[in-house]
Amino acid sequence: EYTRKADSIIAIMTLEEKIGQLNLPAAGDITTGQAASANIAEKIKAGQVGGLFNLKSAEKIRDVQRVAVEESRLKIPLLFGMDVIHGYESVFPIPLGMASSWDMELIEKSARIAAIEASADGINWTFSPMTDISRDPRWGRVSEGNGEDPYLGSQIAKAMVNGYQGDDLSAPNTIMACVKHFALYGAPEAGRDYHTVDMSRHRMYNEYFPPYQAAIDAGVGTVMTAFNEVDGIPASANKWLMTEVLRNQWGFDGFVVTDYTAINEMIDHGIGDLKEVSARALQAGVEMDMVGEGFLTTLPQSLEEGRITQKQIDDACRLILVAKYRLGLFDNPYQYADPERSKKDVYSNENRKVAREIASQTFVLLKNDDQILPLKKQGKIALVGPLGDNKENMTGTWSVAARVDEAISLREGLQNAIGNKAEIVYARGANVVADPALEARISIFGKNTHRDDRPAADMINEALEIAKDADVIIAAMGEAAEMSGEASSMTDITLPENQRDLLKALLKTGKPVIMVLFTGRPLALQWEEDHMPAILNVWFAGSEAGDAIADVLFGDINPSGKLTATFPRNVGQIPIYYNHKNTGRPLSEGEWFQKFRSNYLDVPNTPLYPFGYGLSYTTFEYGDIKLSHTELQGDQTLKASIELKNTGTYDGAEVVQLYIRDVVASVTRPVKELKGFQKINLQAGESRTVTFEITPNDLMFYDYDLEHVWEPGAFEIMIGGNSEELKTGKVDWKK
Ligand code: IFM
Repeated sequence: EYTRKADSIIAIMTLEEKIGQLNLPAAGDITTGQAASANIAEKIKAGQVGGLFNLKSAEKIRDVQRVAVEESRLKIPLLFGMDVIHGYESVFPIPLGMASSWDMELIEKSARIAAIEASADGINWTFSPMTDISRDPRWGRVSEGNGEDPYLGSQIAKAMVNGYQGDDLSAPNTIMACVKHFALYGAPEAGRDYHTVDMSRHRMYNEYFPPYQAAIDAGVGTVMTAFNEVDGIPASANKWLMTEVLRNQWGFDGFVVTDYTAINEMIDHGIGDLKEVSARALQAGVEMDMVGEGFLTTLPQSLEEGRITQKQIDDACRLILVAKYRLGLFDNPYQYADPERSKKDVYSNENRKVAREIASQTFVLLKNDDQILPLKKQGKIALVGPLGDNKENMTGTWSVAARVDEAISLREGLQNAIGNKAEIVYARGANVVADPALEARISIFGKNTHRDDRPAADMINEALEIAKDADVIIAAMGEAAEMSGEASSMTDITLPENQRDLLKALLKTGKPVIMVLFTGRPLALQWEEDHMPAILNVWFAGSEAGDAIADVLFGDINPSGKLTATFPRNVGQIPIYYNHKNTGRPLSEGEWFQKFRSNYLDVPNTPLYPFGYGLSYTTFEYGDIKLSHTELQGDQTLKASIELKNTGTYDGAEVVQLYIRDVVASVTRPVKELKGFQKINLQAGESRTVTFEITPNDLMFYDYDLEHVWEPGAFEIMIGGNSEELKTGKVDWKK
């Protein structure tokens, strides 16, 4: 139906108007530092713009939409896009944090709220979810992804798409999602953003593709190309990816947009001039050109020269018009920009309350010696560290619509929590990093780190002075928000030395020091693990960060987050991920060095904190794994269960994880793969049997010919609280 309607418009469009629909300029309203496309209003009137992005406010968007629907010849409404990545003005934790909640309902709810807020302000299209698997914490954009696991990443992709798009894309409070960055953007060499990717198809299909495909299966409206090359061809001109995989194999029926100037960047990739790369992108199956205007300026000539066909342009234009129909824009081009609803829905107390609740579910308790946490709301608490009294860095990277300077700082959160029951004293103690040049690079987009120019020793002394008669010290350490995120790759992922100097001085006081860790990536925290009694990893928790952190530090909420990306011991272990292959020379169980086996001389193979790891204020004990069968055949269902007991003194939630190993197959298989999880709430002392149902569907993989199959034979079934501490059973599954 929409296709027919779109075709009736195409029938009366000029070539320029058709190509205009393929053009997506940036408004330049939000992303400081990036130039706005020139003469946007004139281009809109001339029918040369299909959509616009990063314009903020219902009023501004209504104004621009009015130009499109009243002053252009065909009155075709515009799409309005934005990077609504982890919330709009009510900001949720960064995606890597959200993933750590392992709570699909909450993740979907966060996307739902983001859609309600953004749509009230006129946005009908978000460039989210980012489902790039990454195993390299040097890459800054691990913060925007869901970690290293294809199964979990797929569940999250689905939850996000459902949250944004709801079950009616034409409703005024749902928005179109865009899965990105297709493909493999999370695997750049050396973790350097935009760098070369080279990967076997076997690995693509088994490990990196599933979350993108899950988004397609969930009905995502659009796909964004990646900046990197795939198999020697930049993704934005890669016909195998955009047409063969996306359309033919996965049945994607929405449209493909490039990343920012990705077409133009193919000139630097070295595959041709602007005319050539633009033609190649269209031929590959790209429909919309973000910012670069290669389509707008070169496609007419390429058509004249027979380099591209009229059909290719019509097909691309049709998909974009269909998306506008699906969004209901032809019925009411203003339905997404509602100043009244904006006042009520955006940054509402209710949404902020949910943001606070969700944030507290994402924190990962990495260490808690002698149950030093939770803290009591009494006595004198010294808060020190560069992230302790900072609002702007709470919302994390890619929070473009956030009211960054209204976010709740940790200092405010602690104060709100204790009222007059206790006393908080504060000193900064250290800068985020010692090097001012590095700090200038990370103190952008309004996220001021408030550098202090006093000598480091003076700052440490001040911290020691205020901590002198404190009962406990909270050290708010880690990264500033823009130390991770786009174009924020790092080769050193340890805590900056000046911060560690502060920690050493604080530890010397003999007082209990709790480290609250702000980070957008897994850090190498071996020293901190060896010396700090407690570490609570809070990522970048969003607009309500300080209150949510206080909720957990004081035990009003018991932490239950689990890591979705491995924390290495040091940078040399990277890439390190739980679902690795066995090799022909694996280490014997429990060993950390054997000559002529696959290992290092200087550190064990094991990570510092494995995938799936996270502590609670209570303790959980797992019984033995029970399997309904030891032998199965064909489509039978295996039931695997385990008794889980809360053996501590707090009520709490535990993420029970199911892993499977395909012991023998026609191709090598990972030592374990996540295949299920359940988040279980148990009161202190309570037990429950947790059961997983496993079918051959859970045993499937792509074989050497990239056929999606399962092969009979031996399987290990593992259940536990993280990817390393597991109870194992064995089955033989026949065809
Ligand atoms: O959506 C983003 C993308 O993830 C990175 N480049 C810019 C796009 C639009 O802002």
